[in-house]
Amino acid sequence: MRVIFLGPPGSGKGTQAKRLQSALNIPQLSTGDLLREAVRKGNELGKQAAEFMSAGKLVPDQLVIALILTRMEQDDCSGGFILDGFPRTLAQAQALEDALAAVSKPVQQVIEIRIEQDKLVERLVGRRICPNGHGEWHIRFNPPKQEGRCDTCGEALEHRDDDHEEKIITRFEAYRKDTEPLVQFYTERGNLAVIDGDRDIDDVTREIAAAVGA
Ligand code: AP5
Ligand code: MG
Repeated sequence: MRVIFLGPPGSGKGTQAKRLQSALNIPQLSTGDLLREAVRKGNELGKQAAEFMSAGKLVPDQLVIALILTRMEQDDCSGGFILDGFPRTLAQAQALEDALAAVSKPVQQVIEIRIEQDKLVERLVGRRICPNGHGEWHIRFNPPKQEGRCDTCGEALEHRDDDHEEKIITRFEAYRKDTEPLVQFYTERGNLAVIDGDRDIDDVTREIAAAVGA
């Protein structure tokens, strides 16, 4: 199955996409995680992306499109994938649609996690992530089993450098201006399900599972 997760920063895309990847046995592809990995490695992509990311701005389309289309060619994507944080602009959505049309494998379900912005700042400020990409926790809403440590690998959890209030505001603005138009784009294609993200994590998971038939 080929699924897209849309939603503002902190809406729960990563949390829910990781749960769904276990249920559907297809990989979650997060452009944010892939870009952070490139920044950590210090490769050419990472050098070009770092400045945009730490400012809370979108990385240029051509870099992100090339990154995700290359990742989607790997064997583990043959049965489908969950896109988390991509596409984020109309140009990205169009590039994705064209690439998938060329192989007759269109997106089947778009999940929009909808929630008011004022609920999200606390989620982001309190988020802690595994540096090895095993997931995201929250100091109050979703604490790890051992304080400050990843449940999967035990590594010390980190606070993302864009999870500070002034950068969070820039990220919300980017979402409103560049990404929200995708709601209309996918509504017109008839495969958008809107999920209320302002509920308990397990309740959101159940509603998403029902929407994708998992
Ligand atoms: P990215 O990493 O994708 O960040 P984002 O879209 O801002 O989304 P987040 O990861 O912040 O939130 P989320 O929805 O995944 O929430 P989570 O599940 O963690 O992108 C980062 C940067 O990379 C961008 O700013 C940009 O620079 C660049 N980038 C990435 N993709 C790009 C693209 N396509 N084009 C251009 N640039 C791109 O949950 C948040 C917290 O809340 C967690 O602590 C969690 O435990 C908690 N939580 C989750 N659900 C609930 C709930 N129901 N109740 C209470 N707490 C909850
Ligand atoms: Mg995320």
